Order: sequence, then C-alpha cells, then structure tokens
Amino acid sequence: MDIATIRSQIPTTKNVVYLNTGWSGPSPQAVVDAIGRMLAFENAEGPTSRPVLDRHREVKGEARAAFAHFVGARAEEITLTDNTTRGINIVLNGLRWQPGDEIVTDNLEHGSGLVPSYHLRRRHGVAVRIVKLAAADSEADILQKLEDAITPRTRLLLLSHIMYSTGLRLPLGEVQRMAHRRGARVLVDAAQSPGQVPLDMRALDSDYYAGPAHKWVLGPDGVGFLYVRRELLPELDPAEVSGHAALRYDQEGDFEPVTDSPEKFELTTMSIPLLAGAIEAIRFLQEVGMEAVQARWQALTERLRQDLAAIPGVAVTSPAAGPTASGLVTFVPSGWEPRDLVDALWRRDRIVARAVNYPPGVRASVDFFNNEEDLDRLVGALRALVQSGPPE
Ligand SMILES: Cc1ncc(COP(=O)(O)O)c(C=O)c1O
Repeated sequence: MDIATIRSQIPTTKNVVYLNTGWSGPSPQAVVDAIGRMLAFENAEGPTSRPVLDRHREVKGEARAAFAHFVGARAEEITLTDNTTRGINIVLNGLRWQPGDEIVTDNLEHGSGLVPSYHLRRRHGVAVRIVKLAAADSEADILQKLEDAITPRTRLLLLSHIMYSTGLRLPLGEVQRMAHRRGARVLVDAAQSPGQVPLDMRALDSDYYAGPAHKWVLGPDGVGFLYVRRELLPELDPAEVSGHAALRYDQEGDFEPVTDSPEKFELTTMSIPLLAGAIEAIRFLQEVGMEAVQARWQALTERLRQDLAAIPGVAVTSPAAGPTASGLVTFVPSGWEPRDLVDALWRRDRIVARAVNYPPGVRASVDFFNNEEDLDRLVGALRALVQSGPPE
C-alpha cells in the first residue's frame, strides 16, 4: 500500500497532525466499520440468538488466532484482555510469591508497571530493585546494568520493550536470554511495541508479554492481549476467576480448576464488536507489513531528529538513530512547560502530541501513516513557538 492510500483509509489524518499513537492510535475506517457491523448484527438478530452466539464464539477464536499470528505465538498462549495493564496485573498477581523474592525493574517504567510492583511489595513483601537506565545507554550498557541487578532471589524482571517517555528500545531477546541464564523470568510491558516493531515471541524467548490493541495496532480502546509461554501457564494462578477457570464444578462444592488454558484468566462478558475491530486492525497492519511499518517510522524519525536538532532552544532527549531508538521522539522546548507547549501546538496547528513526566518533555509518536508534511508542520510550529516563548 502506498502512503496516499494508507492515509485515505485513516480519517484522522485528513483532519489533524496526529503524533500521539503512543497514547492511542487512530483507526482505519475498516476497523470502525467492523465494530459497527457487529453491533448492528447483535442488535438486529438479538444479543443471545443462536446466530449471534455462534458468531461470538467464532470471533473470540479469530481474535486469539489473530493476536497469536501477529506476535509469533500459538493461540493457546493468548489471553484476551482489555488493556496492557490488565495483562501485567494477571502475571504479577498470579505468580506464587515468597517474602524476600525480588523483582528487577527500572526507573523509566510507566506507572502501569511500577505501581503494580509496589503494590506487590506491600502485599507480599516482594523486594523491588530499580535499575537506572538512560536514553543514551547502548544495548550493551542496558544488558550489563540489568544483569548487575540480578541476585539469586530475583524471580522476575519487569521491563517495557519500548519505554514510553524516551522511546528507548531494549535488546529484548538478549535481555530475556540473559535473565533465563540467571534463573529469572521476564514480564514485558508491551504497551508501545505491538504494531510498531515486528514481533516473534519464540525468537525473542518470551515468557510473559502484555500489550494493547489501541496504540500502534490502531484498534479500538478496550482490547488487549497477554502472551504466556505454554509451559508457564500451569504455574500462573488467576487472581480473578469465572467459570472459564473451572474444568468442572457443581453446586455442592466440587471444583476442578483449569490449569493450562489462557482462557482461565478471562472473566465473563466481553465486547465482541471491539474484538472484531481489533481483528480488522491487525489485518490492516499485516497488509501494510510490519517490516514496512518499521522502515517508514525509522526514516521519518531520522528526518525529524535532524530537523529538531536545527531549532535553537530544542533538545532531543530520545536515543539517537540506531537499535535503541523507536518511533517515539521526545524533546525539551526551552522556556516552555511541556504541557503548555502541547496545548499551544493544538491551538496553533491542530497538532496532537503529549507531555511526559519522567524525564520531562514533549513526545511525538511517529507512525507509518504520518508523512513529511506532518513533521514539517510540527517543526514549523515549534520554531515559531520556541522563538516567541509562552504567552505572558
Ligand atoms: C509503557 C506503557 N505501559 C502501560 C501503559 C498503559 O497501557 P494500557 O492503557 O494498555 O493499560 C502505557 C500507556 O500509555 C504505556 O505507555
């Protein structure tokens, strides 16, 4: 698909300069249509009529298979969730912790990784060790710092594949293989990676990988997935359960739990229209091709970094082009509070970006559907705003 065709299918691109896929990506029209068709079908036939129930079962299977294919896993390894944070919680609250067990994480994590870890520390006495990573770290630096933090009590590393604030991308396969050699497993906060980079759970030696459909996958809010390697499913206890977690139960107390199915973590009713939308979003990305997606944001971000570097008073805080860089480009505009600059970009030029807190800055998410004109609009607006400074 050429870029004009891609943009013609994503309505947001006609109306605004959208540089916030890292928060929530704009959906292709086909995604919105798939959701609408499923809602209309449910409502026309009746939500529990035979044809609707049959279609619901099929769509759940198709969604599991679609996520599995998209990340290089088997359908029996995919739990359907509502977002990344749910998947992180399923794993953290499903492992059998002993006081004194340790988690290794880092200072660049999102609250969705840190807060559940701190919560675990309060509930189970798990120690949380925080490694200090920086955007300028090389792949070797990252590996070394993480390995140095591992002790014989370390059971789990909790790491983002791509850090939300600076866009730092980890050498995930090497990190996971190193952790396994040291006797630890790895839970990946994959909020920013599916749909941004090609993924293969087997090649990466993944244990647990939790992601959303609503960011770089360009699907709807409210759908996500959790990958758990097949062999690890039995030892992960669901903290919340429904009938899906019972192989057998009766009204007199008999209960045999499911052990090795990813469906044991799923509760009851979920939105089938939203799943239909997520399936369509994955189809769209697969048609474009994940290698092409990655090559395009790489080229666009290289151009953007150069243009930003040429603006006096703007300092880029993301990694330089290379294996640790991603489609997230963050910068500090001198004289401006990041939040105020984000507001000014919207008011002046309908540019959608976001402010991040740690380290502080303005983050532009550059995705394959963006074009050079989007970047020129951002650079032009920034030049003018940094020169004029914030309003009195
Ligand atoms: C690294 C990271 N983790 C977790 C989240 C939360 O994602 P979700 O809304 O899918 O739970 C985000 C959202 O911005 C994120 O960037």
